[in-house]
Amino acid sequence: MNVTTDNWMKVAAVADVPPLSGRVVRTKNGEIALFHAGDGNFYAIDNTCPHKGGPLSEGIVHDCRVTCPLHNWVLNLKTGEAQAPDEGKVATYQVKVEDGVVYLKLGGA
Ligand code: FES
Repeated sequence: MNVTTDNWMKVAAVADVPPLSGRVVRTKNGEIALFHAGDGNFYAIDNTCPHKGGPLSEGIVHDCRVTCPLHNWVLNLKTGEAQAPDEGKVATYQVKVEDGVVYLKLGGA
């Protein structure tokens, strides 16, 4: 169950999102993709690829990037930007981890 406190939403247990994987989180802001990146940190970006709407949470995670499962655009999990030569950007969201639980901040940075 998702619990919202002060715009921080509990979205997953750390143990539920293995390293180099992602999962989709459904929020009032739409679908957000949560990733456990190669640097050990969690990142969250919009789930919809800026190319043709592919589900980024189902992409391949490598380092701090995800490769879209549809046409292999590569998006930076920290900035939300597509890797050149592709051009595009998705929104990024603040994430924090406390006591083994991952929280996502909604409603502005
Ligand atoms: S929809 Fe993501 S690369 Fe085309």
